[in-house]
Amino acid sequence: MTPTDSPLPASLSALQDRLRDLRAQGQILLQNGDRGFGTAPSNIALIKYWGKHSDQQPQNSNLSLNLGSFRATTEVVVRGRFYPQGSAPALHSNTVLFAGMTEPAPADRKLDRWISRVFADWASEIRMHVRSENNFPSACGVASSAAGYAALAAAVADLLQLERHFSATELQTWLTEWARLGSGSAARSAIPGAAEFVAWERDDVDGSFAHPVPASPGFELGHCLLVLDTSPKSVSSSEGHEAARHSPFFAVRAAGMERRFRAMCAAVAAGDFSTVATLAEEDAFAIHAIMQTSEPASRHLDSRNSQIIARFVAGRDQARVPAFWTLDAGPNVHILFLREALPFVRDFLARECAGGGASVLWGGKGPGALPGSRARAVVHTDLPDDRAFRMGEPA
Ligand code: PMV
Repeated sequence: MTPTDSPLPASLSALQDRLRDLRAQGQILLQNGDRGFGTAPSNIALIKYWGKHSDQQPQNSNLSLNLGSFRATTEVVVRGRFYPQGSAPALHSNTVLFAGMTEPAPADRKLDRWISRVFADWASEIRMHVRSENNFPSACGVASSAAGYAALAAAVADLLQLERHFSATELQTWLTEWARLGSGSAARSAIPGAAEFVAWERDDVDGSFAHPVPASPGFELGHCLLVLDTSPKSVSSSEGHEAARHSPFFAVRAAGMERRFRAMCAAVAAGDFSTVATLAEEDAFAIHAIMQTSEPASRHLDSRNSQIIARFVAGRDQARVPAFWTLDAGPNVHILFLREALPFVRDFLARECAGGGASVLWGGKGPGALPGSRARAVVHTDLPDDRAFRMGEPA
C-alpha cells in the first residue's frame, strides 16, 4: 500500500485474505512470464451514477445494459519473482501495451494503484505487463474504461485460476469488486455470463455490489450510437464526479435516486418498455443538468445533439415506436429500441448521417466478462438486420 491508499473495503479484504491463504498453501503459484487472459463488454447506463465516494464507490445505485459486442480484451503477464512470504522488493515496474502503441510504456498512476491494491500484501513483489485492446473506438461515448478494467479483472482471475478455487458466485464478487477499484461503471461490465441488464446497488448495511437484473423473457433492447464528435473530454470523468457536488441539482437528483433505481429494476423485470424509456430519458436530462451546473461544468448536451434528440423524439412519438435516447458523459447519442422500431431507427439515422459529420456504431449481443479460454472463444453476433449500418455506412 502507498501512503495515499485507503484500506480496502471489508468485503474485498476478506476475499484477499483467502488468496493469501491459498498462496500460503501453495495453491496459487505465480512465476515470471505467467499469463492470464480476459474479455469484458462495455455498457450504457440507463440509471446513471454521477458523483462518487472513495474507492470509486458510486454515490447512487445505477443500472446499465451490457453492450456485448463492444469489448475489451486484455492479457496480463507476470513480471517478477515469487518469494513464499511475499517479502522481497519488486524488481520491475508495471507496463502497458495498448492498441496503436509500438513499444510498452510505464503504466499510469491509476493502473499502478489498481495493481498494487489487487496484489496488496499477499503478492506485493510482482508487477504486471498489461496488453489490451478494444474492438470499438475510444472517445466515442462507449465507456472504454468500464470494459478495460472489467477485462483486466477477468485476466487476473484467469492468471490466478480463480475458477478452480471459488464458486461462480464468489467469482462474480471478485470480478465486480476488483473492477470497481478501477471505475464504478466497470463493476457492471465485470458480471460474468450472459447478463444483459446489470445493477450496481448501494447497500449501506452489507456493502455495495454489482449483480444481474432479471429481465422479462423476450425483453431485448437493440442499441446503436450516433457518433457526432470524438474529441477528448475537456473535463475528465474523475474531475466530473468530484465537480458534481457543487451543482445545486446534485442533492435534488440524489434524493429521488433509490426510488427511481427500484422503479427501473421493476420495469426491466416486467418488460415495461415505456417506463424504462421514460426513466432513462429523464435520468439523462437530470445528469446533464448536474454536469452543466457543476464547477467546472461539463457541457455535453449542446445545440447539435439537443436538436437531434428533439427530431428523434418527435419522429418516434409520431411513428409510435418503442425507442428512446440517452447520453453518457459525452455528446454522442445512444439509441435503444425494441426490434419493431428498427426500421424507424434505421431511417432516422440515415437522415441524420446524410449531411456528413456523423456516423453510426451498431451494438450487438455478446457475453459478460469472461476469464481464460472462454474469453478466447467469444464470437460477436450482430442483430441480423444491422449489418449494412455498421461503422457509419448507412444504406
Ligand atoms: O465509472 P466512471 O468513473 O467512468 O463513471 C461513469 C459515469 C457515467 O458513465 C456518466 C454514468 C454511468 O453510470 O455509467
